[in-house]
Amino acid sequence: MRITIVGAGHVGAVSGACLAEMGHHVLLVDRDERIRERLSRGEPPFFEPGLEAMIRGNRSRLEATGDLAGAVQSSAMTFLCVGTPSNGVGEADLSAVDAASSAIGAALCDSSDSHTVVVKSTVPPGTTVNIVRPAIESGSGRSAADGLSVVMNPEFLREGAAVRDFFMPDRLVLGADDPAGAAALEALYRPFHCPRVRCGTATAEMVKYASNAFLAVRISCANEIGNLCKPLGIDTHEVLGAVGLDDRIGPRFLGAGLGFGGSCFPKDVRALVALARALGREARLLSAALDVNDRQPVTFLDLLKARVGISGRRIGVLGLAFKPGTDDIRESRAIAVVQGLLDRGGRVLAYDPMAEERFRQVHPDIEYAGSAAEVVSGTDATVIVTEWPEFEELDYTGRIVIDGRRCRRAEETAAVYEGICW
Ligand SMILES: NC(=O)c1ccc[n+]([C@@H]2O[C@H](COP(=O)([O-])OP(=O)(O)OC[C@H]3O[C@@H](n4cnc5c(N)ncnc54)[C@H](O)[C@@H]3O)[C@@H](O)[C@H]2O)c1
Repeated sequence: MRITIVGAGHVGAVSGACLAEMGHHVLLVDRDERIRERLSRGEPPFFEPGLEAMIRGNRSRLEATGDLAGAVQSSAMTFLCVGTPSNGVGEADLSAVDAASSAIGAALCDSSDSHTVVVKSTVPPGTTVNIVRPAIESGSGRSAADGLSVVMNPEFLREGAAVRDFFMPDRLVLGADDPAGAAALEALYRPFHCPRVRCGTATAEMVKYASNAFLAVRISCANEIGNLCKPLGIDTHEVLGAVGLDDRIGPRFLGAGLGFGGSCFPKDVRALVALARALGREARLLSAALDVNDRQPVTFLDLLKARVGISGRRIGVLGLAFKPGTDDIRESRAIAVVQGLLDRGGRVLAYDPMAEERFRQVHPDIEYAGSAAEVVSGTDATVIVTEWPEFEELDYTGRIVIDGRRCRRAEETAAVYEGICW
């Protein structure tokens, strides 16, 4: 099948490369020329394990283009993978979804071939029915009655494991409000062997938000417990390790530390809080999860200040990406930590194996080190912000380390060691 992907970012580029690997011919449309150029050279637009090989191996079936209309017209299916960041009041900003939907609608107006538009972007419940479908139908003058379906298939891939997650999802959520759309999704995912949830588009939209809300609340719950364990002299990780053995709870997403960042959890929880507000309700637990999360970097800096001081000190920051395995720094805890260090009069020497280039765009004026070892040896104290495996190989002997992620090597070898919640 010829498939167009609108938005060749983390979701679009990975989905496109993986669909090409499945044998489809994929047209990746992005408004960002640099992304298109990189893809045209066979390079991924960002670091994601396995993605480069997937793109290079399928170059004959992958095209990058800025011609949305031409791509959509020549395809049987279009994936909508544009960003839905927070706006100023925490709602999902749907302007890219709106613009892309209108462009897809306009592209389909001269065609009578059947076409399925698949909403992959994370959007508030009702968006497919109330925004995407009307924009496409009014632009094209077509509807389900003449072969145009708009369905919703939320994406659950995790950056750092996105290729694996595409091919081995825990479940597929197939949201469709018309039989032809449902059938098109079924056909697309026929080769996959995992549980399928068949539901309407609004339910599919809510499944995505609910999943992220649960995970975010879990992390904040772990951090809240950790913040109580620390002054009691109890090892949070021992506690949560034991808690996770309860099979009603399970061990994952119980790592107490600096909290969650990234392009999804913070903005999706904020969007649910905003949705509750719009419904005249309060999402108290979700607001509290965000609040706990926002406070973790402050708690971390307070700890550093109490042990070493910050003003006039040269502080090493290990890790800038929002998590290991990616160069994505969107809402990374490192942004708040570095800003907090600067605000308190500290000087910063930072290192990340992947994310330095992107972090420079946010903080061009701090110093960047060529290696993690340089950070540890060349500063008054080191803070660990992202749990890159290579930080477990460093020599922390004689150094001061304040740890936001539980680096065992630092705990065992540093002269002074403090964990944020342990
Ligand atoms: N990143 C993740 O791990 C992840 C996981 C699951 C779901 N999601 C959701 O998927 C969506 C996309 O996320 P992402 O991380 O891939 O975003 P991203 O910012 O990495 O990519 C979005 C891309 O869309 C392009 N774009 C925007 N408007 C366009 C238009 N009109 N025409 C062509 N291109 C356009 C942008 O240039 C950008 O490259 C979001 O709703 C996000 O919440 C993301």
